[in-house]
Amino acid sequence: MADRLAEGISFAGCDPRACTDSVRHEHAVVRSDRGDYVVVRHAEVRAAALDDETFSSAVSAHLQIPNGLDGDAHTAYRAALDPFLSPAALAPFAPILAAKAQALVATLPTGEVLDAVTQIGAVFAVRAQSAWLGWPSSMEEPLVAWVEDNHEASRRGDRQEFAAVAARFDALITPLLSARRAADGAVLGADLTADVMRVQVEGRRLSDEEIVSVLRNWTGGDLGSIALCVGVLLRGLVTNDALQRRLRDGVSEAECDAIIDELLRRDDPFVSNRRVTTCPVSLGGVDLPAGTRVTLHWTSANRDEAVFGDPDVLDPQANAEANLVYGIGRHACPGRTLATLELRVALQALLAGTTWIAAADEEPLREIYPVGGWARVPVVLA
Ligand code: HEM
Repeated sequence: MADRLAEGISFAGCDPRACTDSVRHEHAVVRSDRGDYVVVRHAEVRAAALDDETFSSAVSAHLQIPNGLDGDAHTAYRAALDPFLSPAALAPFAPILAAKAQALVATLPTGEVLDAVTQIGAVFAVRAQSAWLGWPSSMEEPLVAWVEDNHEASRRGDRQEFAAVAARFDALITPLLSARRAADGAVLGADLTADVMRVQVEGRRLSDEEIVSVLRNWTGGDLGSIALCVGVLLRGLVTNDALQRRLRDGVSEAECDAIIDELLRRDDPFVSNRRVTTCPVSLGGVDLPAGTRVTLHWTSANRDEAVFGDPDVLDPQANAEANLVYGIGRHACPGRTLATLELRVALQALLAGTTWIAAADEEPLREIYPVGGWARVPVVLA
């Protein structure tokens, strides 16, 4: 059924929403000019994510825990690591994260143009995550720089640059591990980083390389995405007065979380994840041989008209069940509770600390694939 396949579609340099909105009505799967098969419709993205035996996550030569694992190994690492991200484990951090958000908002000037992504989202994400993991405030500046460089490497799609940026993360984190390890190998300290160092998988402690991989995936998942999400949320508020008023009037936590999820569905900044086929399979009418590189395009799936109708219309309740912002299946995001908590306390602090948030006269700037959302969202606080 090769006639149903669009080939040579260029995603690089495009706004991931615009360049998939224009192909999704005709194709479920398209072949990019980089040779991977990009799945753009909701039904097929969902089916591939749920069929983790056929669509393997072992896509990288680098150690990626748990992202790059399949089957039983993946189950074992998730079982050991997910408890750190459970609602019960995160509950004590809620007031700490809220205090971080309030302290940041208190320092933000009113009446001046601020970029919601770099000056609010990225700064809050780094402070929140350092507090959560027990890292010193001296880490904040290098981490903000690392997040920006990591995005830049993603935008350029340059694997060597990507590897160099990952190595820089390792260099930042390794001293934090050494500082928590006594000469006899015992782990010192009572923070989350020390707790991760004590984790056992299948009866043994994780190696430093594994711990760094876990922390890199938590940091990459958290810092970059949270900064972009804050941009999407604030762009949503400054372009929808009724929504901003509704949130200012006070909504329940559950309603606030549902609105956050729905704003992210409409403009999902966590664009895609990769898979590789383990056997021949047909997806969306396209035959894929074993060993095919496949990209699951969450941003496109989350705007699929067949599921959501007009993708730009917000309907938090109706769209919640099909929302794929945090993925689906065995690799579904373990950080969802933390991400939602961080975004809720950031939004609440911004609303409580201001009388209004308006769009600045400067135009916002869209991000480009493989990053999504906005690169710059100029706002003015009152
Ligand atoms: C708004 C922010 C976030 C979004 C939109 C997001 C989205 C996602 C998505 C779509 C996946 C599925 C990946 C796949 O199927 O291959 C995923 C996986 C993952 N996320 Fe998140 N995430 C966010 C925040 C976080 C946070 C805060 C953490 C941890 C601190 C985190 C850690 C992870 C990890 C470790 C995985 C891999 C899980 C696995 O492979 O089993 N994420 N995330």
